[in-house]
Order: sequence, then structure tokens, then C-alpha cells
Amino acid sequence: MSMNYTVGKPWSKKDLLDYLNHHLKESRVRHILGVAQAAKELSKLYGIDPDKVERAALYHDILKDKDKIWLVSYMRQHGEEPGEGLLAWKTLHAPAGSIFAKEVGGERDEETLNAIRYHTTGRPGMSLAEKIIFVSDYIEEGRDFDGVEQLRTLARKDLDQAVLASLLSSISYLKKRNDHVMTQSLEAVAYYTEVTERKDAK
Ligand SMILES: [Fe+2]
Ligand SMILES: [Fe+2]
Repeated sequence: MSMNYTVGKPWSKKDLLDYLNHHLKESRVRHILGVAQAAKELSKLYGIDPDKVERAALYHDILKDKDKIWLVSYMRQHGEEPGEGLLAWKTLHAPAGSIFAKEVGGERDEETLNAIRYHTTGRPGMSLAEKIIFVSDYIEEGRDFDGVEQLRTLARKDLDQAVLASLLSSISYLKKRNDHVMTQSLEAVAYYTEVTERKDAK
């Protein structure tokens, strides 16, 4: 870790961009900036502070290039047991990134930290900022998969439905690869299925 970063004082947007540009590969930074852009747009649309959500976006994949051993030991050093995450270590950059944002970036806002922490698995009852980060990760301009345009439209119309659609698409991707699906994601599917069905019934 470079010594230019002061622990304790929260990182500014400039600090964050400097860190990303120096530590992450270019394609990763491009994705992160795409998520930040999408998240800012959704924040304005849904009426929450775009700067706060942008910070969560800039942090969300900050440890995505780290390997399993690094992530596990980083979490344990900070008193967190990865648990089920050991079966799906690619999800660990999310909780580890949240620890990093707090410990290194000096980020204090709980909602921002949770948006980073749950951006990969999702969870039941996500806050607006968490949902925006979760969905923006799928719809940022660099994404190109079947149905991405519909998902972009859906995100602007009904965020809960967009969360559910994103969850289902990522779970079907994991299942195709025989990868472990985290319990939290399955619980999130159950939760957002109910939320969206309840809305439909109105
Ligand atoms: Fe991620
Ligand atoms: Fe991402």
C-alpha cells in the first residue's frame, strides 16, 4: 500500500480515483467508472444523494483483482470470518472492499459501506443506495449481454424488479458454471419476488 494515503481522514473522490488508477487494471477502472455513472443517474432519478452513491460505486470493486488467499487473510485480519464465502471466494471482494473503505478510505457512512458489502450477493431488504449499486453493476454502459437494454429500462422504471432480474440472471450464470450460489442471494430472490408480486397485486 502506498504511504500517500492518510488513514483516518475520509478519502475524497480524487483520492479514490488516484488509488484506482494506480492499483487496478485499466479495464477494471473503466467498469468502475461506468458503474459510478449509472449509479449517479439512478440516484438523481430516485432522489438520493448522487455523490454518496458515486463513492460506493468507486469503492465497489476496489479489491476485485485480489486472489482468494489475500482476501481471506485480509478479512480475518479484520476479525471477519468469510464462512460460506469460502465456497464462492469471488464474492469476497465485496465484504473485503467494505472493510477496506472503512479502514483505509476512512469511509464512515453505513449505507455506503453496506452498498459495497452486498453488491455481489445482494440481500433481503436492501436500502435504496444498495439497490442502485447492485443494479448499476449490471447495467453500466460497458455491459453487453442479452437483455441488458431491457434491464436498463427496467432499472429506471422499477428498481425492485431490476434487482430481482439481476439476481436471477447472475444465479443462472453461476448455476451454468456449477458455481456455488450464496444463501444470501437465494434469500434476496425470495424477498424481491415477494416485494414485486405484492406491487403487482395492487
Ligand atoms: Fe464486484
Ligand atoms: Fe462491479
